[in-house]
Amino acid sequence: GTLTPVTPPETATTDSYAFAFDIDGVLLRGGRPIPEAIEAMKVLNGQNEYGIKVPYIFLTNGGGKTEQERCVDLSRQLELEISPGQFICGHTPMREMAQKYKTVLVVGGEGEKCRLVAEGYGFRDVVTPGDIMKDNDRTTPFRRLTDKESRNSRVRNFGETEIEAIFVFADSRHWGDDQQIIIDLLTSKNGRLGTRSKDYDEGPPIYFSHNDLIWSAAHEHTRLGMGALRSSLEAIYKSITGKDLVSTAFGKPQLGTFQFATRLLQQWRKDTHGINKPPETVYFVGDTPESDIRGTNEFNESKLSENDWYSILVRTGVFKEGTKPRYTPRMTVDNVLDAVNHGIKREM
Ligand code: G3P
Ligand code: MG
Repeated sequence: GTLTPVTPPETATTDSYAFAFDIDGVLLRGGRPIPEAIEAMKVLNGQNEYGIKVPYIFLTNGGGKTEQERCVDLSRQLELEISPGQFICGHTPMREMAQKYKTVLVVGGEGEKCRLVAEGYGFRDVVTPGDIMKDNDRTTPFRRLTDKESRNSRVRNFGETEIEAIFVFADSRHWGDDQQIIIDLLTSKNGRLGTRSKDYDEGPPIYFSHNDLIWSAAHEHTRLGMGALRSSLEAIYKSITGKDLVSTAFGKPQLGTFQFATRLLQQWRKDTHGINKPPETVYFVGDTPESDIRGTNEFNESKLSENDWYSILVRTGVFKEGTKPRYTPRMTVDNVLDAVNHGIKREM
């Protein structure tokens, strides 16, 4: 007879379903793993009663570092190897806008990190709020750059610079000063600092990497997120100009982000597991009804999705028991381990 190679059951990888995880409030809180997260990852890697491995990706609205750097952190935090090939953060899709504008303002994050992320994406000329403050220290009446910030900031002639777009890559560390600079640009003539548009209709466009009003960090209660910065900017802009601010947000719950995730998952399954077809079901585990559950459900109901995106809400982050989530998940469980077990069981 012929010999058929047998795959031992402990290494069998399912090709019919996959998982996608939100990070803050599901796997981490304030940079530390949620206790059940490490176990949940082990279960996906074959430590379950069926000896089956399940492919998975990560889809966070957070950011502020390169995907590579973030995966190094996440690998340490979750005690397993995580690759950029299975990781999308809030600003990852901004990569696709790198050729659209020449000079851009990049806001948010620690020190110089977001400038480096943007340059890594191929943005050709990246300005930071620090560059602007270094050039003109009257920009922010109540803050001076520290020596380190000043060293990180680049000197240039802003009188000759047209900033073509504003990108908020990650959470702002200095809301007031960053908002001042953003308002200066939004009300300028063609993104030229020091000018004012008469009818406020010449400012550059503004993009946010996500729109989370609140998120789940180390504090027992949720913290203000980039969506809160966006709403306050809208309110300030409206009071000053009398006009509505038009802005764009990436991240969850935008359907484009889920399309991006679909492509990444497809590539990841192909490259690392040799699976050449789309999964029937993608279990998405999240803690924020407005981003995670809304996005998963709306993507699933849209014509854009070719698989069944199944939303699972956990109770370890933004969503708390006793309130009714504004977007209804297909399943609610206590934590990410229960979510993983629920999905695997449902497939058996
Ligand atoms: O700033 C990060 C936060 O708004 C959300 O992160 O992982 O819950 O999508 P995540
Ligand atoms: Mg979250």
